Amino acid sequence: MNNLLTKHILEDLSNRERFRQSLLEWYDENQRELPWRTDPSLYKTVISEFMLQQTRVSTVLPYFQKWIIKFPDFPSLAQAKEEDILKGWEGLGYYSRARNLHKLSQIISTQESIPHDVNFWKSLPGIGPYIAAAVTSISFNQKEAVCDGNVVRVLTRFFGNGEKFKDGAYAQKKLQPLAHVLMPDDRTGDYNQAFMELGATVCHRQSPLCTTCPVLKFCKCGQRGDAENFPVMEKKKKTVQEIDRLWIKSSNALLLQKGKMGNNRLAGIYELPLNTKLGPYIKGKFISLKKRTIGQVLYQESIYWGSISKTLELDEYSLEWVQWKDIEEITISGPHRKWIKEIIQSIESDHT
Ligand code: ADE
Repeated sequence: MNNLLTKHILEDLSNRERFRQSLLEWYDENQRELPWRTDPSLYKTVISEFMLQQTRVSTVLPYFQKWIIKFPDFPSLAQAKEEDILKGWEGLGYYSRARNLHKLSQIISTQESIPHDVNFWKSLPGIGPYIAAAVTSISFNQKEAVCDGNVVRVLTRFFGNGEKFKDGAYAQKKLQPLAHVLMPDDRTGDYNQAFMELGATVCHRQSPLCTTCPVLKFCKCGQRGDAENFPVMEKKKKTVQEIDRLWIKSSNALLLQKGKMGNNRLAGIYELPLNTKLGPYIKGKFISLKKRTIGQVLYQESIYWGSISKTLELDEYSLEWVQWKDIEEITISGPHRKWIKEIIQSIESDHT
């Protein structure tokens, strides 16, 4: 870390102070108006940071607005039913985030006063170094530097750091101390948000807006004109997984499969039934091929007409007939809800 600072313009403490001021002034003038920033609260900060992990601001906005109306504070979230919480999260993916928020709000609701210390926050469910630093700096003005993907991009460009990182998480961990030494002692929450905001709105992955960057003066790559080449990440091979699914419907219901409880990514979430080799289904004609990527895996999901024997024990396979009229009420994974709509439309158009 220190060798990156050596001979860099930010090695000098008065330049570092100038940099902080330029960044904060820019943020004061140019920050996006976001619902968790106007009239902020600890609760809004926690919810927004959970939602923003792995998900972009434009996707989060409508979810956040609805969430705050449905669950306005920690006690209301603590008391809510898990299925209502999952429903509020439907489409955001990574559902363990919603379950962890539920547990966290139950813990927070029992605290007489809420600790400001980053280690308390790190001990809560679903909170890693990133959210702990974001929440404690934004809500309690603690000096804790965030280092998310945006910050990594900005830092590697500032310092022309061409080290090849094995993945984003590793880069974040490695560069966090550098983010920390650049940080001021006050307005730490604004500073962290300003840094992320710069990454999100100026220092784009591709075609960064260097000519209008408020801190170009401090950026090695911006001045050289090769910012786009940073950070350098090892290329991960994508693997492909093929899956068969079944479309089993009656006149008033669709057969869906509920993810098993426990730590499964999709616990409590419905999807079209998997056609496993040992499964109790009769597979019919092909309907459609759908694709989705989760992490490094490209799933190619082929959907077939199917049927089951009337005597099948549905519970044994976590299967449920869901009445068409109830389908909006349950939590279906984002891609599967979209596919179900598409299939209904294509079936209907085949019949007209
Ligand atoms: N990304 C995640 N949290 C953020 C925040 N508070 N401000 C800007 N970008 C973010």
